[in-house]
Amino acid sequence: MSFRLQPAPPARPNRCQLFGPGSRPAIFDKMAASAADVVNLDLEDAVAPDDKPAARANIIAATHDIDWNTKVLSVRINGLDTPWWYRDVVDLLEQAGPRLDQIMIPKVGCAADIYAVDALVTAIEAATGREKPISFEVIIESAAGIVNVNEIAAASPRLVAMSLGAADFAASMGMATTGIGGTQEDYYMLHDGARHWSDPWHWAQAAIVAACRTHGVLPVDGPFGDFSDDEGFRAQARRSATLGMVGKWAIHPRQVALSNEIFTPSEAAVAEAREILDAMEAAKARGEGAAVYKGRLVDIASIRQAEVIVRQAEMITDR
Ligand code: COA
Ligand code: MG
Repeated sequence: MSFRLQPAPPARPNRCQLFGPGSRPAIFDKMAASAADVVNLDLEDAVAPDDKPAARANIIAATHDIDWNTKVLSVRINGLDTPWWYRDVVDLLEQAGPRLDQIMIPKVGCAADIYAVDALVTAIEAATGREKPISFEVIIESAAGIVNVNEIAAASPRLVAMSLGAADFAASMGMATTGIGGTQEDYYMLHDGARHWSDPWHWAQAAIVAACRTHGVLPVDGPFGDFSDDEGFRAQARRSATLGMVGKWAIHPRQVALSNEIFTPSEAAVAEAREILDAMEAAKARGEGAAVYKGRLVDIASIRQAEVIVRQAEMITDR
């Protein structure tokens, strides 16, 4: 164990991030009324180039006019390889209301990308006297992003969350698929003539989780494109939760309940975690560091595992 303690990530529910194009203000009220913990108003790929100025104005108005209740309100700006991103930042920071919480930076490739946005945001905050600092979330969705994921996770104290963007990631990596997340037909092992599907997103997700956990950032799974496939969404989300991710995007409102379902620890899981903690309390009282719970070993590491589940459940209840 390093003597440096692992920093705690922000204690906020981030089970579902609901996206909607900034060029479609008619859905903003529905997004605000949804059960998503985070709302992401988009200026990037869901908005056509000619619509960028109007989408900015819609989003700025929505930060003033709409009651976003307890949601984290985030705006996805354009990538640093476009002519739009600086105007996104300047207009948002100068004109958005205090309700704006967060900026999402897409296609991040290195820590300097975040430094650039941080410098601009910091200067405008100082100039305008914005009281609440804007936080950042980033999307890892390129070969460079995953290669530099550790330095990106450490890039700024503003950074609170990091998502895997499956579609752009697949394109950047040259993956032979047009699927957005989930099981890929051709990614299988053959055993005794039978196919067993493996998970092509696994290593990138695991790298993101490790980088995030090292630096106290929330790891989040990105989009699942086939919004008519509920079981496919659940399967992808369960794998992500098992790996340590705290939530997932919804690119259609029907995915919000699915995401909340998977990323809220079940009553059975919480009950079992509490029983493990009780079993370890009893072991401690006997002067022992290990015990048997339902026929399996539990020890002091089991306390830390159980506490992850109990803390997550309590945070959701307390929100
Ligand atoms: N948030 C909230 N409500 C939404 C919504 C969203 N993202 N997308 C659709 N709705 C609403 C619709 O207005 C409709 O409401 P109604 O029942 O009151 O009429 C209802 O949900 C059902 O919508 P549906 O007809 O099934 O979808 P659609 O054809 O209107 O839109 C998409 C489908 C995929 C285009 C749309 O959901 C969307 O733009 N998603 C986000 C895309 C995005 O932001 N991508 C960037 C990140 S990958
Ligand atoms: Mg993308």
